[in-house]
Amino acid sequence: MCGIVGYIGKRDAYPILIKGLKRLEYRGYDSAGVALISNNQELNVYKTKGRVSDLENFVIQKDISGNIGIAHTRWATHGEPCSLNAHPHFSSSEKLALIHNGIIENYAVLKEKLQSKGYLFKSSTDTEVLVQLIEYIKISNNLDLLTAVQLALGEVIGAYAIAVLEKDHPNEIIAARKSSPLVVGIGQDEFFLASDATPIVEYTDKVVYLEDEEIALIRRDMDLKVVNLNNVEMTPEIKSVKLNLGQLEKGGYPHFMLKEITEQPDCIHDCMRGRINVEGSNVVLSAVIDHKERLLNAKRFIIVACGTSWHAGLIGKHLIESFCRIPVEVEYASEFRYRDPVIDSSDVVIAISQSGETADTLAAIELAKSRGAFIYGICNAIGSSIPRATHTGSYIHVGPEIGVASTKAFTGQVTVLTMLALTLAREKHSISEEEFLRIVKELNKVPEKMKEVLKLNDKIAELSKIFTYAHNFIYLGRGYSYPVALEGALKLKEISYIHAEGYPAAEMKHGPIALVDAEMPVVVIATQNGLYEKVLSNIQEIKARKGKVIALVTQGDTFISKIADYCIELPETIECLDPLIATVPLQLFAYHIAVCKGMDVDQPRNLAKSVTVE
Ligand code: G6P
Repeated sequence: MCGIVGYIGKRDAYPILIKGLKRLEYRGYDSAGVALISNNQELNVYKTKGRVSDLENFVIQKDISGNIGIAHTRWATHGEPCSLNAHPHFSSSEKLALIHNGIIENYAVLKEKLQSKGYLFKSSTDTEVLVQLIEYIKISNNLDLLTAVQLALGEVIGAYAIAVLEKDHPNEIIAARKSSPLVVGIGQDEFFLASDATPIVEYTDKVVYLEDEEIALIRRDMDLKVVNLNNVEMTPEIKSVKLNLGQLEKGGYPHFMLKEITEQPDCIHDCMRGRINVEGSNVVLSAVIDHKERLLNAKRFIIVACGTSWHAGLIGKHLIESFCRIPVEVEYASEFRYRDPVIDSSDVVIAISQSGETADTLAAIELAKSRGAFIYGICNAIGSSIPRATHTGSYIHVGPEIGVASTKAFTGQVTVLTMLALTLAREKHSISEEEFLRIVKELNKVPEKMKEVLKLNDKIAELSKIFTYAHNFIYLGRGYSYPVALEGALKLKEISYIHAEGYPAAEMKHGPIALVDAEMPVVVIATQNGLYEKVLSNIQEIKARKGKVIALVTQGDTFISKIADYCIELPETIECLDPLIATVPLQLFAYHIAVCKGMDVDQPRNLAKSVTVE
């Protein structure tokens, strides 16, 4: 969702804010804006529809002086993307400017109240309501900004991360959060503010993650002060973050997505590092060591997640049920949280999230916690909200993922789920030692096999040219490959805007087969594992209806290559590791089709990387 950046210190704020917005552009990119208190004490707000680069063009010839400012990239919730609805929003007097990430759910009631007091609104946003409310409370009670913010937030229902500037107080920024992330960076006589640590790490490694309903008073001339809505002072916990700046740059690749697909062999290696020993005879997850009894005694696992992470969860179900013989349910977090689910202290909930900020997943965790369940998080973004809300967990350690379409996070999540299933199964003696060692040995080979798959890039790029103008796609797989089919279809939809459906291959005859004709490309994951013969029959059924089959097969397959229209040959692995290998060519396929269509691969329309609103 929206990106927030702030700066106060001795340097010029504008270049720091713009650089920060570019780092956060993956969070939202339909409009951008900046507010600065200039060297001659003016509160200047500049904002425009479009990308951060459009904002840069917009401010040419404008006064961008000042060493205090706040800036924002937007992902529209209330009101279309346009410069009026872009942030920062002024209060009526134009003495306050505010940026906001989240949704003020009771904005309509608050707006009516303010309109009855004579307030006029320029935009259709919930955010403008909040800044007007703060001003109204401030003026009518003759309060300072901090107290007015505290009282206003007490009236708000919803989620927010906000930052406010006041023209008459050019030495302070007030920032607050509830259910939307906000990080304060502490430098030498300067402070930074951002939705996540990525814009901050090049200046300082000292950060404070604000907690829900905390307000930060960030002043030039004093230490960071954090209070809650009732003005009780909190002790901010200063943490150290280490991020490699190279991970935040494209490093010569045309897109972050291609870089991140290509990085996967190293990412999987990093994910396993220190967890699988060199001999490949042991897998250790510290969360399992620390909470062995709780995990082994679980009557049931419930996996909650959204989007791509939910697809990883489907593979997790297969792994845990097969190896540990513990029942697993996989739920969309957004459905789970509103379903009054049957859940108690005998359940373990596994929450999977790349960003660690997804609002629905966080809400599902809170619900499960309130019913006594034990929560295990599988996340990528270190220090994000979900790892802080869970009882234990494992990071996937694949580095920052910037491309909106998730790639390396998915394979990282599947790798952690594989290690989790193996560790629990060994502890539970539900897997033979021989089988355990066979899988770990193969898992160790996955990075090398992924490298082989990446060598198919040119071939896949050629293939994608044939299908660039297809209007629909069907993706089929069975067993472990069914979630891979869902993920392949999702990747294509997200970045090429081609309609694509993933199905369990055998379900095709119960409906989707009606769509198959000579115009319908069907991608089939048909590696030589598990239900190979059955998938072969499914391919015959498609060919009988003249569908165009693109098959993912195991190297050396002689049967399917004779009937499929196009084959992508993958290195052989064992069934439960197939998803780690077969997902990569589907990511590349979606990527190249989107590039051929001239789409904005890293920032596809209407999507955001981190969905902090429900
Ligand atoms: C958004 C992203 C997806 C992601 C989903 C869940 O929709 O665009 O790529 O899979 O959120 O995000 P999470 O960070 O919880 O994995």
